[in-house]
Amino acid sequence: MQIYKVGGAVRDRLLGKPVTDIDWVVVGATTEEMLAKGFRPVGADFPVFLHPKSGEEYALARTERKSGRGYGGFTFHASPEVTLEEDLIRRDLTINAMAEDDQQNLTDPYHGRRDLEERILRHVSPAFAEDPLRVLRVARFAARYAELGFKVASETLALMRQLSESGELEALTAERSWKEISRALMEDQPQVFIQVLRDCGALKVLMPEVDALFGVPQPQAHHPEIDSGIHTLSVLEQSALYKQPLTVRWACLLHDLGKGLTPEEEWPRHIAHEHKGLKLIKAINERFKAPKDCQELALLVGQYHTHGHRALELKASTLLELLQSFDVYRRPQRFEEFIVACEMDARGRKGLEQRSYPQADYLRGAANVARGVAVQPLLEKGFKGPELGEALKRERLKALKAYKESAAS
Ligand code: CTP
Repeated sequence: MQIYKVGGAVRDRLLGKPVTDIDWVVVGATTEEMLAKGFRPVGADFPVFLHPKSGEEYALARTERKSGRGYGGFTFHASPEVTLEEDLIRRDLTINAMAEDDQQNLTDPYHGRRDLEERILRHVSPAFAEDPLRVLRVARFAARYAELGFKVASETLALMRQLSESGELEALTAERSWKEISRALMEDQPQVFIQVLRDCGALKVLMPEVDALFGVPQPQAHHPEIDSGIHTLSVLEQSALYKQPLTVRWACLLHDLGKGLTPEEEWPRHIAHEHKGLKLIKAINERFKAPKDCQELALLVGQYHTHGHRALELKASTLLELLQSFDVYRRPQRFEEFIVACEMDARGRKGLEQRSYPQADYLRGAANVARGVAVQPLLEKGFKGPELGEALKRERLKALKAYKESAAS
């Protein structure tokens, strides 16, 4: 049997990037031989094994053929006769379809090295279309390697467009899609992921609510970039520049969905877009079964981001309601993430990327003031149950009024 390193490990070594996990392909072996060498099978009838010591994945060279819709619809054929070239041709991109032996000799039948040098993401063969998840993968690689100047080949984009129009994307499970989306959002240029999905028509299928923002104008005075879609991409870009966690990036992507629902006669204003957007945010959250913390923050940022921008003008009572809605007493981190998302929203505007955002510290201060109101003296006065809650609220309101006055002076 011959053993080769394949896929991302070869690609990233050639790019001079750190290699995290290594996939291996084994040519000329049978399942029985692998088991005899102590490899552990990954699934009952899938030709992938774990190395007895390193735990790395070793797959028997295989060919694959689609036999139905979705990911389940696959038949594969693994046997000692399957060649390395046959295994590589079923893979997604040429840059992922190279193999290397233990002497670092490269097997590169589909010119992945040339495409790496020319910074092109190109599919290997028509077999690309057998797994629609690859549309998302290519967009994710485009986001990851944008900094190096990588672009999607026009013929690959055309194939991605065909796949998007064919209805195949609908067959993807929420789990597989979310895995790609969440990884892509954590790349340095997540806005490229969304842009590539839009370029091939996949955004319209996967996230029509986000796609609908493009072409919708906003008032130039606050939004020199005008277009709501461009604004959303810029907010996402800012969230990555500031190395924000996934929760914040997800909220940034979804914060303005309501603008896509504004009747054209009302453009460029978007009255109550915060509220109108909530049902869209909920739908997209559920479509991808986003984790609970991502879902929650996206809804809260959607509903309250304009409160964040107007923080300094808010009445003390509105400020208190805002803090209560976030449960800042028990969930301080979530409020902090809200503040940062608002800041990204303020900066994701053409020419305003460097602006200061005094609202952030003002909101942090307000949360501290509300949290600083002690319960003990109220307990000592005999308050309990709902009355205690009311008394706490009154004290917090008093403290916030004083805070607001001192901030104004
Ligand atoms: N692959 C594929 N189609 C997929 C998933 C994987 O062709 N839908 C192939 C590619 O050759 C890929 C290899 O399997 O390089 C390993 O896949 P994976 O570990 O998911 O990705 P990597 O390329 O290693 O990339 P990453 O750095 O994102 O993990």
